[in-house]
Amino acid sequence: MTQRFVKSAVIGHPIAHSKSPLIHNYWIAQYGLSGSYEAIDIVPDDLKVSVDDLIAQGFVGFNVTIPHKEAIMDLCGQIDETARKIGAVNTVCINEDGALYGSNTDAYGFIENIKASAPDFDFAGGMAVVLGAGGAARAVIYGLLDSGCPHVVLINRTLERAQELAEFMNVGDKISVVDWGERSNALNGASLLVNTTSLGMEGKPVLELDLSALPVSALVSDIVYAPLETELLKSAKARGNRAISGIGMLLHQACPGFKAWQGVSPEVTQDLQDLVLK
Ligand code: ATR
Repeated sequence: MTQRFVKSAVIGHPIAHSKSPLIHNYWIAQYGLSGSYEAIDIVPDDLKVSVDDLIAQGFVGFNVTIPHKEAIMDLCGQIDETARKIGAVNTVCINEDGALYGSNTDAYGFIENIKASAPDFDFAGGMAVVLGAGGAARAVIYGLLDSGCPHVVLINRTLERAQELAEFMNVGDKISVVDWGERSNALNGASLLVNTTSLGMEGKPVLELDLSALPVSALVSDIVYAPLETELLKSAKARGNRAISGIGMLLHQACPGFKAWQGVSPEVTQDLQDLVLK
């Protein structure tokens, strides 16, 4: 019997920088599957027409990146609870009748990366400090609270944005918002520190943060993966904290979509990581 050719994609604007085609096509080859994963540039005004075209072409699903993660929600017939709570969809399955089912795998990717890098980490064991209040922070905070984290201290340069995020999450006093200027002091007693800002990324300013108040037992995680080891992770390691790069989040968030479309649970391996970082 010949295998069905399974078409999938990532949509965004711009899209040339996306690592998703590398990841999915690596797995397609690795598991000897018959399929493709394309990067498709779609400008915001064309979102509906272009998605209708993917449906007409028989695509089984697609990932969604900037700037469509919120707008795509209006085109989905169904949206899972995680995506609704995060307020963004990054993975879409196209049903046989052409209806779109939206989900969000960023929180899953973040949590799985921590589980893979620090298997003994107890999410329920203490407070987490999250820097940044963009889309990535929403997924990280959702993932942490869903995994049993008792309290998140949220710190963002623009205070109002952090307050809006806390309100949107609607979890009462499980999130407290602290001024950006207080970020170093706020590390006292944390069991996890996560940077979700773009600070430390290649071409961006470094994150200025004094780690001396952070317990040495705390995990430090950066969602930045270029460079693989940010200055934050370097300083964390130098004082004895365990440090986790953002590359694993990128790789793990791709797994649920691949499983849904190709029917195989893919593995996140060192080879794949090396390929993506090349
Ligand atoms: P994403 O959706 O990927 O999280 P984003 O919405 O652009 O991206 O958010 C980027 C984050 O980095 C924000 O928290 C931003 O802070 P503001 O909300 O104040 O803009 C943070 N950020 C970017 N540049 C920064 C800088 N120079 N200093 C402090 N925070 C910065």
